[in-house]
This record gives sequence, structure tokens and C-alpha cells, in this order.
Amino acid sequence: MAAEPAAAFEETGGGDRRPRHIAIIMDGNGRWATERGWPRLVGHRRGAERVKQIVRACPDLGVDWLTVYAFSTENWKRSTEEVLGLMKIFRRYIQYEAESMSAEGVRMRFIGGRDRLDPKLQSLMSSIEMRTAKNSRLNLTVAINYGGRDELARAAQRLAGKVMRGEVSEAGEDDLEACLDTAGHPDPDLVIRTSGETRTSNFLPWQAAYAEYEFTPTLWPDFTPDHLKAILDRYGLRERRFGGV
Ligand code: IPE
Ligand code: IPE
Ligand code: MG
Repeated sequence: MAAEPAAAFEETGGGDRRPRHIAIIMDGNGRWATERGWPRLVGHRRGAERVKQIVRACPDLGVDWLTVYAFSTENWKRSTEEVLGLMKIFRRYIQYEAESMSAEGVRMRFIGGRDRLDPKLQSLMSSIEMRTAKNSRLNLTVAINYGGRDELARAAQRLAGKVMRGEVSEAGEDDLEACLDTAGHPDPDLVIRTSGETRTSNFLPWQAAYAEYEFTPTLWPDFTPDHLKAILDRYGLRERRFGGV
């Protein structure tokens, strides 16, 4: 029988196994700001600072892939002010982080539908993807205008095109996977959601089918590399079975 997890954690200080790919639903920016009587966008700006810190911490924690949920297909429902403010934060993040990400060996990619985004943002996204394409210390994927159902619908359309052109005959899982925005990326081992909500909000439904989940009450602007380290230690104690025994 396996040791009782909390006791084992005390004894060993955490498991040795590290997740190769973690995905984070960075939630709670709005509440963080509201609690302080500040506009929600202040919380989003703090949240973006946290992303930088967590990105820098990942390689030393043995994480090779980090995928973060920055803006969902449902987030367009928010006020114009909040949406435009978020888009400005994304533009600035890419512009000002480009140098340091290149220098630190971070490869940056984006998932989600791009057509609805401002053309200026789209071109910044493509240029940083190209600029960091040879980096391999950390694979950072940012989900902007991402929705799992939207991604699957777009993938199904691409796959139908391949079938019609005769490039694929009997479409299977691998064929659909090759049409996703994440084609070629490993599946996340662990999905973390901050802010206490215990839902997945349309994030990586295909890719995270066998992921482990961690839900923490900490709001994203308060989430530090130490919080991440504690979660990764707990992950090392989990038994993943993938349907086996
Ligand atoms: C997450 O924080 C960031 C985005 C969804 C863009 P929220 O803005 O959802 O923060 P809460 O959930 O309202 O506190
Ligand atoms: C999920 O958070 C999306 C992002 C973190 C970008 P939301 O705050 O939009 O999700 P719900 O509305 O609580 O499900
Ligand atoms: Mg939220």
C-alpha cells in the first residue's frame, strides 16, 4: 500500500518526479485588485509581472514546457475597457520581454484563434515566435483567444480538408492531434488553477485528458515560485496510472 501522502511529503520534502509540462489557469487578477479597491486592470498588470517570475523559475524546477491561459474565447464578454487593457498588456509583455526571453533561451509560442486579434498584436506574436524558434531551455506557450471547443472545431475543419484532398484516409486520434494549435507539443502533466475556482473553463480539454489537477486558493498576483515548488513536490507523490494498474 502506498504511504499516506501527507506523511510521505513530510519525510521526503516532496517527490522526485517532476512534471515535464505544466499548464496554468491564471485566475483571480480581478478579485485581487477589487479586494484592494483598485481597478481590475491593476490586477492584470500584477498578474503579468507574476508570469515573468514564474517563467524564470521553471527551468530550475525541471519544467521544460509551460502553457499559460491568458485570455479565453469567453473573455470577450468583459467590458471594452478591460478587453482593450488586456490586449495592451499582451502587446507590452511581448515587446518588452522579447530581449530577455531570447537571452534566457525561452521559446515562445501562442495558441488560440488569431483572426480576431488586433493585426499589430498578431504581427508581434509571429515575430517573437520566429525570433525565439531556436531556443529550447523553456517552451512557453501563451493561450490568447483560446477556447478548447474553438480549437477542436478549427482542427476538425482542417482535418476535413485533408480528408477531402485525400491526404488522410481513415482519420484517427493522431490525425486530429496534428491539426490542433498544440500539434507537436507534449500533453500537460499537471494543470494548476489559482483563485479557488475548481473548473477548467474550456482550457486544453483534449490535451489535458490525462493530466493531474491542482486547485489552489491563492489569487494569481500572489502566486510565487515557492507556491509552484510546493505544488510540484506534491505532484511527485502522485501515482499516475493512465488506465493501467
Ligand atoms: C484571470 O483573472 C485573467 C483573465 C481571465 C484574463 P480574472 O480577471 O478572471 O480575475 P477574477 O476571476 O475576476 O478574480
Ligand atoms: C479562465 O478564467 C480564463 C483565463 C484565466 C484566461 P475566467 O475567469 O475567464 O473563467 P471563469 O469565467 O471563472 O470560468
Ligand atoms: Mg476569473
